Amino acid sequence: MRKPIELMSNETMNNKKIKLGLSGVGDFAEKCFIELFQNHPMVESLAIADVDAERLARIAEKFGIDVCYDSHSALCESDVDAVAIFTQRHLHGPMSVEALKSGKHVYCAVPAASSVAEVEELVKTVNETGLIYMMGETSYYYPSALYCREQFKKGKFGDFVYGEGEYRHDMSHGFYEAYQNSGGPNWQRVAGVPPMYYPTHSTSMLISTTGQYLTQVSCLGYRDKVDDKVFGEGLNNWDNPFSNETALFRTSGGGMFRVNEFRRVGDLTGNSVRMSMTGTEGTYQEQGEHTCLWTSLDGESVDLTEELKCGEPDIDPSEKVGKGIQYDFFTGVSKYHPVEQIPKEFFGLTNGHYGSHHFLVDDFCRSVIENKLAPNHVWAAARYTVPGLVAHASAMQEGALMAIPDFGDPGAQWQYLFED
Ligand SMILES: NC(=O)c1ccc[n+]([C@@H]2O[C@H](COP(=O)([O-])OP(=O)(O)OC[C@H]3O[C@@H](n4cnc5c(N)ncnc54)[C@H](O)[C@@H]3O)[C@@H](O)[C@H]2O)c1
Repeated sequence: MRKPIELMSNETMNNKKIKLGLSGVGDFAEKCFIELFQNHPMVESLAIADVDAERLARIAEKFGIDVCYDSHSALCESDVDAVAIFTQRHLHGPMSVEALKSGKHVYCAVPAASSVAEVEELVKTVNETGLIYMMGETSYYYPSALYCREQFKKGKFGDFVYGEGEYRHDMSHGFYEAYQNSGGPNWQRVAGVPPMYYPTHSTSMLISTTGQYLTQVSCLGYRDKVDDKVFGEGLNNWDNPFSNETALFRTSGGGMFRVNEFRRVGDLTGNSVRMSMTGTEGTYQEQGEHTCLWTSLDGESVDLTEELKCGEPDIDPSEKVGKGIQYDFFTGVSKYHPVEQIPKEFFGLTNGHYGSHHFLVDDFCRSVIENKLAPNHVWAAARYTVPGLVAHASAMQEGALMAIPDFGDPGAQWQYLFED
């Protein structure tokens, strides 16, 4: 289990607080994150920004927020210490860079950026400013990822051989509404984003477990056949014809990793993100959220299904579900989650994505206050994001093998919040 390297005393923590600004008060921020940032003991004040004036006013009233800005840029010019970005996914790279260049620490929902050049610029800006950047990767905190990291650390897998990570989420399961929410009449232009441009739910689990990164890829795509003007040449900003993409990666330690990013998929299993992994000594296998199995060469065979299950959310999800927000956005925690590290102010507040939301907000706030790296810092975010961007380029060339640029590890000057 992850262990804090050294925690500040409560007294010190209570004396240091962050003025936080949140950019993009759409569905995810409203239903899942604003109340967490508002209630975190290290947050002194919360300002919000959105280009949609009506939405901004409604959210300000709902959460009793006095300080509002009409754009991300205006928020960046304000006196907040940190900015949490919840705008649409294709906007994240330049917005994160703008906030960092304005002297703000940055939390950003996934993915980190939409091109390799944007990721490069992001890493460079963090290096130059020395500010905290954390990507809000939910899957990093999934019970399966927590379990596999612990087993890997104990050497139970042996040497990593092969892994599978996938995110299966059909367009009809909330995506149409999510893209329409802010997309205007041309919402399809963004909805047709290449599936591999959103790879981090799949890649983060394996990369964070093994410590390896991805060096080469060959990827194939499924040319979409549905007539909804989303995927196809000329229909979206990327001229992307693929609704499903499957990539095979080489890992830096000589292993293999298969990733599926599916947006037309006849599967409504609750947990749309899953991983499986095989080493020379042991194997973890997962099918939906219903079967999780550990087996090893020395004869162990453990059904982990109940142990890794997350409890029910503390709220009634039906109050929050709607538009692009699904039932699986709301869950409690599993027995693998180190809930004792979470501030007591969060108990009873909405949690979601398999227990991850509370940890995301808490890790970011601690990271800023203690000036130490949280798990999904910019170098990790680059390693989760860039492989998908290159994978799509490979798919456009019918599986051509391509090298994946790597932006390295944090510099030696950085300290870490947690041991792993
Ligand atoms: N599991 C996960 O990690 C997970 C789940 C859901 C959503 N997300 C991510 O969260 C993000 C937000 O998703 P959502 O469904 O809430 O989107 P949304 O479209 O509902 O909200 C985005 C908001 O950003 C605002 N915005 C756009 N440009 C802006 C600017 N320049 N300044 C200020 N505001 C601006 C829009 O007006 C809108 O209100 C997305 O990036 C999505 O990928 C992640």
